[in-house]
Amino acid sequence: MIKTASVVHVDLPGREYDIQIGPGLLGKVGAFIAPFGGRKHVAIVTDETVAGLHLASLQAGLTAAGLTSEALALPAGESTKCWVELERTCDFLLDQKVERGDIVIAFGGGVIGDLAGFAAAVLRRGVRFVQIPTSLLAQVDSSVGGKTGINTKHGKNLIGAFHQPTLVLADTALLGTLAPRDFLAGYGEVVKYGLLGDLKFFEWLEKHGLAMAAGDMDARVQAVTRSVQMKADIVQRDETEQGDRALLNLGHTFCHALEAATGYSDRLLHGEGVAIGCAMAFELSARLGLCSQESPSRVRAHLRQMGTKVDLRDIEGDLPDAETLLGLMGQDKKVVAGQLRFILAREIGDAFITSDVPREVVLSVLKDALAER
Ligand code: GLY
Repeated sequence: MIKTASVVHVDLPGREYDIQIGPGLLGKVGAFIAPFGGRKHVAIVTDETVAGLHLASLQAGLTAAGLTSEALALPAGESTKCWVELERTCDFLLDQKVERGDIVIAFGGGVIGDLAGFAAAVLRRGVRFVQIPTSLLAQVDSSVGGKTGINTKHGKNLIGAFHQPTLVLADTALLGTLAPRDFLAGYGEVVKYGLLGDLKFFEWLEKHGLAMAAGDMDARVQAVTRSVQMKADIVQRDETEQGDRALLNLGHTFCHALEAATGYSDRLLHGEGVAIGCAMAFELSARLGLCSQESPSRVRAHLRQMGTKVDLRDIEGDLPDAETLLGLMGQDKKVVAGQLRFILAREIGDAFITSDVPREVVLSVLKDALAER
């Protein structure tokens, strides 16, 4: 089936919104935003890379609907998600005289979405914002569901708020300007959805993943749509992560330890860590006798076929020993009363949340993965 555009609705009472998905949405942005009312002036928060590539198109799309705009372009990269840039962003929005009824646009990847979304959450105790995600990771994950925030010296995303966007515009044509490594890193989050709750989607990715990575637009629209539909379903059930939403953290307990061990650097992008973490979560599940021995091999084979990172040996440079990695897992936000929580799987497409994981089995998975390096 040819599917060149779609819309997913997030049905949260009083905070509902649409996620529009398809190529070329940027040119129509004004038509989507104008009906929301407010002043005919829009403040945009973006990063310098995205601004260089796409800001002119975004502003032209706004002008076409009679909206003026002003943009703040922050440095690209994770270090922008900090107090200093948050203050700069809030000051910019206040300089733009943003009022409660106005719209702020977050235009970029996960860093800009999280930072601008948090600024919108705290500015005048909450103003509306529209997410226009430009990376695959942001289109399938971070722009949807209302998690916003910044990092501090104590860790990632420790300061933040749940603040749902008013609209998400996922223009899949923008994915064409991503570096292949960044695209594939985002793929780690796509495959996560199949692995955690939809075997058929995983099978579809096994068949169409390569075409999607090569630029097949119908495949891109379908992959983003199925991912955000699954995320919307989960967020509707559990907006503030009291239960099921934690399923979206499949692979993230391992990932966060690996990100900390590599200093949140270019050695390991977040989505690459998610891909490796998903493979390790399936390995752990198989060792605990929860899923078949074939499942981790099948997960790895698909990730290998896609060309993303799969194993610890794909991370360049030194890594700490297994005990240290396990200690870094203990710093994770998902620790409850000192107990590590894992997302494990009974099978591909059937994940669940548990704290009941013997420490020595986790250690053995880490030790064996390190020994293969
Ligand atoms: N990225 C995980 C979540 O939004 O809950």
